[in-house]
Amino acid sequence: MNSDTSNLTQFKDHFDIINEEIYKVFNSRVPLVEEIGRHALLGHGKRLRPLIFVLSCELCNYEGEDVYQLSTIFEYIHTASLLHDDVLDNAEIRRNRPSANQVWGNHAAVLEGDFLFSKALAIAIGAGNIPFLAKITETTTQMTEGQILELAHTDDWGISRDLYFEIVTAKTAMLISTACAGGAIVSDAGSKTAESLAEFGLNAGIAFQLIDDLLDYTSSEEVFGKPVGKDLREGKITLPLIYTLTQLETTEKKRLEDLFINHQPTDDDFRDIIDLVRGNGALDRIRDEAQSYVDNAINCLDIFPDSATKRDLLILSQHIIDRKK
Ligand code: FPP
Ligand code: MG
Repeated sequence: MNSDTSNLTQFKDHFDIINEEIYKVFNSRVPLVEEIGRHALLGHGKRLRPLIFVLSCELCNYEGEDVYQLSTIFEYIHTASLLHDDVLDNAEIRRNRPSANQVWGNHAAVLEGDFLFSKALAIAIGAGNIPFLAKITETTTQMTEGQILELAHTDDWGISRDLYFEIVTAKTAMLISTACAGGAIVSDAGSKTAESLAEFGLNAGIAFQLIDDLLDYTSSEEVFGKPVGKDLREGKITLPLIYTLTQLETTEKKRLEDLFINHQPTDDDFRDIIDLVRGNGALDRIRDEAQSYVDNAINCLDIFPDSATKRDLLILSQHIIDRKK
């Protein structure tokens, strides 16, 4: 089983079926496509996106038998986006193992991402539901815009909090939101239900990326499954640093910016800035903020009567904050 899900053991049955489906629908006549795909998909992925789709379907009393197959759309898109993201970031580690770009090179990794993305769309087309397909393509469009926005602000030490949230919403939260809304759309549950689930997922998704960016400053590679402190090394100025910079004198801020942009910062320089971020209260502020997003997410489910599935979604949204990886 995926070790990442070990503290979500109550969902084991779902994870088992999701994993079975992921492998069942994953096939290609080209052996290398399958080899890279197995590597990318079979790492220690959390399968959170397919799981929230399955639970959202359950919440909306979906009666189709293809719920698990449809759920794989969200893992395929997510994995495709990570394959591309690792090329953009020149990443070496993903899901506790060497990233695909590291093993097979950038060209193969990008093409594998295209393959998985196409696979996801083919499964979505199979659902025969145009609004569902439209929601998915709208989402991948926004994810790409979010990534390009982030790229355009690489090494931007003046990036605003608002812009950071715009990027996070587009690149991460939208897919989680669509995994939730998708359950309502395929169930024909009506626009109010779809909007509530979309908002639930959007808020939970923003919290998810806030914690991801926080863990980049607080975790260890072994636990997190990817190197820590890598955002800054990639020139990404994320919320922990944005908040820390607001606490500094302008001259100190300028000195750091000059050091990191115009000179070759040493490992000690990186360690110093990580210590600075860890020591000035920014991380507590972000944890509180992420909790507020989860609280907002929870409120979005008020329209649904109490049920075991609703409680599962609430547990899952809280897990986003409490997770260590
Ligand atoms: C990881 O973020 C990356 C994403 C959440 C989204 C990536 C999106 C794209 C590449 C565009 C859309 C592509 C397709 C195929 C739909 P991160 O870099 O903050 O996380 P990390 O630390 O895990 O790398
Ligand atoms: Mg990345």
